[in-house]
Amino acid sequence: MKMIQNPHSENMSEQSPLTVLVVGSGGREHTLAWACQKSPLVQRVIAAPGNPGMAKDGCECENVAADNIEEIVQLAVETCVDLVVVGPEVPLSLGLVDALAQAGIMAYGPKADGALFEASKSHTKAFLLKYGIPTGAADSFEDASAAKEYLNTAAYPIVIKADGLAAGKGVIIAEDHETALQTVDDMIVGAKFGESSKTILIEECLVGEETSIHVIVSGSDYIILPTSQDHKPIFEGDKGPNTGGMGAYSPADLIDDTLMQRIEAEIVKPSVDGLVAEGVDYRGTLYIGLMITTTGPKVIEFNVRFGDPETQVLIPRLETDPVEIMLATIKGELGSLDVKIKNDYAITVVLASQGYPESYPKGEIISLPKTLEDNEMVFHAGTKKDADGNILTNGGRVLGATALGSNLHEAAEKAYRLCDRISFDSKYLRRDIGAKELNRQTT
Ligand SMILES: Nc1ncnc2c1ncn2[C@@H]1O[C@H](COP(=O)(O)OP(=O)(O)OP(=O)(O)O)[C@@H](O)[C@H]1O
Ligand SMILES: [Mg+2]
Repeated sequence: MKMIQNPHSENMSEQSPLTVLVVGSGGREHTLAWACQKSPLVQRVIAAPGNPGMAKDGCECENVAADNIEEIVQLAVETCVDLVVVGPEVPLSLGLVDALAQAGIMAYGPKADGALFEASKSHTKAFLLKYGIPTGAADSFEDASAAKEYLNTAAYPIVIKADGLAAGKGVIIAEDHETALQTVDDMIVGAKFGESSKTILIEECLVGEETSIHVIVSGSDYIILPTSQDHKPIFEGDKGPNTGGMGAYSPADLIDDTLMQRIEAEIVKPSVDGLVAEGVDYRGTLYIGLMITTTGPKVIEFNVRFGDPETQVLIPRLETDPVEIMLATIKGELGSLDVKIKNDYAITVVLASQGYPESYPKGEIISLPKTLEDNEMVFHAGTKKDADGNILTNGGRVLGATALGSNLHEAAEKAYRLCDRISFDSKYLRRDIGAKELNRQTT
């Protein structure tokens, strides 16, 4: 185990247990907080703002919004936090890690210059092209008429993206010219996503299987986490509108060893080297969205944090303490850390409110299992507690039921049994999380 230094006190012994602050309130953050709670390196976990699931696990939830940089830093200073784990992209792009560094507090996640790789799609596209990293051809536009002129000669379908953060809603795949023109008007002229769509990216539509990888980057060192697969569409069989993610499993055999070697050589290594060459000292998770095309893997996007719900399957599979990995990342010791992964398979099934991703009810009482077996977890995503102590639905994605098993079939059976032990009136879930992979395994 690595020696831990407490940045606040030279006098404290090096192994002093840490106080950790987890920033965010979703299923991803509950999973990260759960891992911190279990870590022998940690004595106290605070969450801002957290959720009732995190509170039940022993986190102290403080009512401070994740994107209120000033108040988060103040909370971290006042409560003598040693390590801040930042879940979502917005506080990262607002410079939370920079502000914490100024206050002398360690934080897991990139500074604003690294977070820009999620906060500006045109910035990332220029980077990918500069370093010869495979990605779809694209042009960026600030002027609606120039964008429309470009669309006159474009091939359809074509992808139109708001440049900035848009909570996962800023991408339209336009099937025809008319839809594309309307999208340009909505985004640039109508400022559909405010500042975020003042600039748009018009991108070649890539065809293939979509997947992603999580890379932990510490300057020039990196480790690639196990494979995982999200399920974005709301309905079974990958039908219907996209959501934040309806479930995930890990490992995912879509990326085999040969493909992973290619992804590492053509995408991961040049990206990490490119960040260094650009003077970006990136310390955190780099999530690379990929399309596996007939000509090889191509980058769809970078995210600068863990995926949700991928975190719910990746973190429980780590044999090595995730807190140790995060500390090594921050301190530049990742290169000498031997990260071990469990042999278990993991699956997470999201329990959503009927109607999501459009409108859905809130405030329904949730009945949760009184006890959980080993290797079963319920991560809260959109819940709140009322004055009587009831846990209520409070979001589109409400909970994630996670299970580990010695194979994917066992993990899936356990996760779905767990789903059946949870009830609320509008409960909706996909029954086919991991089904494609299970079919591949049995044929
Ligand atoms: N060039 C492309 N070709 C085909 N499909 C694409 C392309 N770019 C994006 N998509 C589809 O649109 C989705 C969203 O795109 P992208 O990941 O760039 O946006 P995002 O809003 O940042 O998403 P997220 O919420 O996952 O971070 C992708 O997951 C993919 O399914
Ligand atoms: Mg993104």
